[in-house]
Amino acid sequence: MKLWGGRFTKPTNQLVDEYTASISFDQKLAKYDIQGSLAHVDMLSKCRIISESDAKTIANGLKAVASKIEAGDAVLSEDNEDIHMNVEKLLIDEVGTVGGKLHTGRSRNDQVALDMRLYLREALITISQLLVEVLQALHKQAKANLDTVLPGYTHLQRAQPVLFAHHMIAYVFMFQRDIERLTDSWKRVNKSPLGAGALAGTSFPIDRHYVAEKLHFDGICENSLDAVSDRDFVVEFLSNASLISMHLSRLCEELVQWSSAEFNFIELDDAFSTGSSMMPQKKNPDVAELVRGKTGRVYGHLMGMLTTLKGLPLAYNKDMQEDKEGMFDTVETLKGALALFAPMIETMQVKKEEMYAAVAKDYSNATDLADYLVGKDLPFREAHAVVGQVVLYSIQHNMYLLDLSLEEFQQFSPLIAKDIYDVLAPKAVVNARNVAGGTAKNRVEDQLTAAEGLIKKS
Ligand code: ARG
Repeated sequence: MKLWGGRFTKPTNQLVDEYTASISFDQKLAKYDIQGSLAHVDMLSKCRIISESDAKTIANGLKAVASKIEAGDAVLSEDNEDIHMNVEKLLIDEVGTVGGKLHTGRSRNDQVALDMRLYLREALITISQLLVEVLQALHKQAKANLDTVLPGYTHLQRAQPVLFAHHMIAYVFMFQRDIERLTDSWKRVNKSPLGAGALAGTSFPIDRHYVAEKLHFDGICENSLDAVSDRDFVVEFLSNASLISMHLSRLCEELVQWSSAEFNFIELDDAFSTGSSMMPQKKNPDVAELVRGKTGRVYGHLMGMLTTLKGLPLAYNKDMQEDKEGMFDTVETLKGALALFAPMIETMQVKKEEMYAAVAKDYSNATDLADYLVGKDLPFREAHAVVGQVVLYSIQHNMYLLDLSLEEFQQFSPLIAKDIYDVLAPKAVVNARNVAGGTAKNRVEDQLTAAEGLIKKS
């Protein structure tokens, strides 16, 4: 007999049971479901809705059910549809009919919204902590590479040299904003929906604030319809997760490129690389590729949730059961990626000489030649044209700018003097960008200090 079987004259079709059940995936919520029930039953007795002794029996029963589920000794069945009714059934098996008092003044609708919030709260903490570890790893690489120069790119064409530390800190700031977004979302997640009932509240004299406090919520959802109907906190999480995945994916793309023979800028540690079943020489950046690849499923879950919700009238609709798998998968996907990310970054070997060679054999100091001419009062547009000619000449003669003789330079502009060789040296080019946020070493050191402060705060 179903817990709700009273008004039915025959059992549900087996296929209906299979189709509507969520126990195969919402059993992940068992711990939170029981945590919520313990707070609820405590409140029921405090408000004299059930007796103290019944409450005690139920609480003890719930704890016994929790241990059984945790030990894998409980049978969770599709006949009982979801985690909420499975727990209730197990409770009644444990303590008898008094267990049936637990659901007084409560619906699965406020219950499931509560479970989702309790689950997400814990996930937010874990993911933020893992992100801090990524920040620390990036920061460490930055600190170790304050003198490492590599080509900076636009359009994936060499543009201007930058410090590798500068590049690493760029990601520190991105991930720091991700943490900030997760932290900010906390105040919207951390509200208790319990007591909203099925949709309209309850006729029992419950104390919603008491339950909220017991479960360490900052307050209650003020409107019962809103409390059971919206999953905007799930959408917000999936959206924040999408941004994290996007940032991870961009860095992964760079790691993949940099570890190719074409770039040869880094080598990922053996422990964070994989081989080929056929080609003995291969060392593949599988982790970085897979993190990049899994971004797709995270975006997919965001789109899925938004689409599921878009046409739903208030209040609860069964469609909303679809909120779970995407959220669980996103949490697991992020945890998996982030746990690998910090050690992968920390152990990656930075090939300073190769990076420097790529800068030296390049025209990325061309802007500095133009800026030099501007310093001699040539309008920038004219300087740009002159340097374009110098670059063309150099390419045609198989040279880089620093290979030109002073006479050759002066054929293009008499304003060029022999100090040009100091100006065009890679380190000088980097240090010329001495502006707040720029790539000059002292400016990058400032950013490193700022990033350190942010990491401590996170
Ligand atoms: N398993 C359901 C879900 O995840 C729980 C709420 C069911 N409520 C209902 N009235 N059928 O959404």
